[in-house]
Amino acid sequence: MRILVTGGLGYIGSHTCVCLLKNNYEVVIIDNLSNSNIDVLEKIEKITDKKVTFYEGDLCNKELVRKIFKDNKIDEVIHFAGYKAVGESVLQPLKYYRNNLDSTLTLLEVMQEFSCHNLVFSSSATVYGTPKKLPIKEDFPLSTTNPYGTTKLMIERILADVSKANKDFKVIVLRYFNPIGADPSGLIGEDPKGIPNNLMPYIVRVANKELPILSVFGDDYNTHDGTGVRDYIHVVDLAKGHLKALEKCLKSKGIDYYNLGTGTGYSVLDLVNTFEKVNKVEVPYKIVNRRPGDIDACYADPTKAYKELGFKAELGIEDMCRDSYNFIIKNKESHN
Ligand code: NAD
Ligand code: UD1
Repeated sequence: MRILVTGGLGYIGSHTCVCLLKNNYEVVIIDNLSNSNIDVLEKIEKITDKKVTFYEGDLCNKELVRKIFKDNKIDEVIHFAGYKAVGESVLQPLKYYRNNLDSTLTLLEVMQEFSCHNLVFSSSATVYGTPKKLPIKEDFPLSTTNPYGTTKLMIERILADVSKANKDFKVIVLRYFNPIGADPSGLIGEDPKGIPNNLMPYIVRVANKELPILSVFGDDYNTHDGTGVRDYIHVVDLAKGHLKALEKCLKSKGIDYYNLGTGTGYSVLDLVNTFEKVNKVEVPYKIVNRRPGDIDACYADPTKAYKELGFKAELGIEDMCRDSYNFIIKNKESHN
């Protein structure tokens, strides 16, 4: 089986490519390096001792996408490519609508042209907006609070329409909760440019003394210790979820939606304390005001993914903390 992975050099894409190659899939990647580094390609090949076919370029470039489908018989597609920074999407909405929607439309048109009808799409728990109940199930009402989230929801709707109009088109939408961690080799991981917005990348930089102190956004939430609770999932587990989705996609009809999370919520302070204990480092922090738009708690009901995909996250919060830090330690030269 040959899989086209859009955005395959990014954080989740690179871990998924490793998992695909280890399971004897052939992998073709398109990535424009807008949020990744070409070194990742070599690292994927080093971890797996397998070769990848790589196209550097933009998924919005229809001629290039046609060439990829002409040169390679693609069986299924996993679509990761897109911009993902919530704050930036509020400041530059058009950049987000243009890239995330245009790239998806181009991909879908070319898939139809080449009669490739199997797609796994990266959506996000952000499409549940502010959930009224927990844990979150796939049939909960959908809404968004920022342009990034709106692009995800719009793409979900486009995919539903396409699969309705063309009965051959099969789509699995995966709604990720909070992916953290890294490949245990320490060769690939999450390495955001500039000052990180998300919690784990910030913690590792404080632990590595690249940043002085973590700001904990609020300690007056309705949670066990007052800090925000999220469903963190190891990126290696998340990657395995994509293999289950590819298998399901071949057998299914229409469109299906699955939460990928562990089902367990941890607070900001749970994560900080575990990180310190597992890695024997200090993560100084101070409590500051809430971040606008943040919610008390968010965690998945992972039952549907377990029952229908056979997917269950196996790695725990200790593994996530250890592997996130290991990646930074192994890549210290590029950080200090
Ligand atoms: P990432 O930014 O690390 O990876 C995305 C990759 O896509 C990058 O390598 C980037 O260079 C590439 N890309 C972007 N636009 C492109 C285009 N037009 N043409 C070709 N390549 C393009 O992000 P990630 O964390 O790996 O996320 C992957 C997907 O999962 C995204 O769609 C994201 O919205 C979604 N997602 C991520 C999270 C998360 O917390 N990381 C959570 C929920 C959903
Ligand atoms: C963020 C995105 C969300 C996306 C998700 C996927 C925002 C507002 N939301 O969710 O759309 O789907 O990532 O990973 O960016 N925190 C601190 N200090 C920090 C950073 C975070 O206390 O420096 C807290 C937050 O208040 C929150 C928790 O840590 O309670 C997790 O935050 P973060 O990693 O940014 O993820 P989310 O906000 O859940």
